[in-house]
Amino acid sequence: EAIDVVVVGSCMTDLVSQAPRLPKAGETIHGHKFFIGFGGKGANQCIQAARLGAKTTMVCKVGKDFFGDNYIQNFKDNGVNTDFVGQASDAATGAASIIVNNAGENAIVIVAGANMLLGSEELHKALPAIGHAKVLVCQLEISPQTSLQALRMAQENKVKTIFNPAPAIPDLDTDFYRASDVFCCNESEAELLTASPVSNLEEAHRAGQELLRRGCSSVIITLGPQGCVVVETQGSPSKHVQTTAVKSVDTTGAGDSFIGALAFYMAHYPSMPLEEMARRANQVAGLSVQTVGTQTSYPFKKDLPAELF
Ligand code: RIB
Ligand code: NA
Repeated sequence: EAIDVVVVGSCMTDLVSQAPRLPKAGETIHGHKFFIGFGGKGANQCIQAARLGAKTTMVCKVGKDFFGDNYIQNFKDNGVNTDFVGQASDAATGAASIIVNNAGENAIVIVAGANMLLGSEELHKALPAIGHAKVLVCQLEISPQTSLQALRMAQENKVKTIFNPAPAIPDLDTDFYRASDVFCCNESEAELLTASPVSNLEEAHRAGQELLRRGCSSVIITLGPQGCVVVETQGSPSKHVQTTAVKSVDTTGAGDSFIGALAFYMAHYPSMPLEEMARRANQVAGLSVQTVGTQTSYPFKKDLPAELF
């Protein structure tokens, strides 16, 4: 039975405080709102793909605790297959402490917990799903070796791969590039990976070419309100995909909304040009920044204009 999108990645409980600004070291400030939500880059991407209509399967590990039980229910409520969602008894469900300022920017500390216990045993059990997917998506909130192994399993089975190197690590194993059909990161991740500034369009184009040289088939660097840069064949000019300006309330997880949408388009419209997929994914993510929260702000197919489908 065909699956559109399999995500091998993280689940986190988001503990979110809204405050006028981000505190400095050693400082206590008053915030005005606190809420708990479902997050984690892997799960966020999976949920966004599912809300657009993709048939999705999540491969992950949560704790045998209240947060883990709740998370499994959240997947079910969103129509995500949970056959490969494990519960560890020796580690807690991952947690993310998030502060969002009045500009909609954030600072996040993650404690990955049970996410780090996802390993090759679980991947082997999930091979029937991974090997029959149209698209596999991985990030870096689980053990990097597990992500790399999942990407390779997908490639061996001719499954398209999207790799999101987030949060970025400076000395990323170059095998990740070779295992990525689409290597998709934001500007700060691109800076860290290329060790050069990515603060304008020209630098983004250059960083994209550099990442492409490392062995992936294509690169997308997302630039927030500036849209994104798409780089495909080496030597040919990279393309800037613009996006319409929106008033941002909370940008947390906007990158995940973009990647979830991209995975949906790759699965449903495999022959669509990558820049068109990116243009549409920008519109989906653009809606998510206009509402508070991570998954709570991800649009469903019914909320979006028909021309996106
Ligand atoms: O990308 C946003 C996500 O990063 C949040 O949901 C938080 O859980 C962290 O993993
Ligand atoms: Na949001």
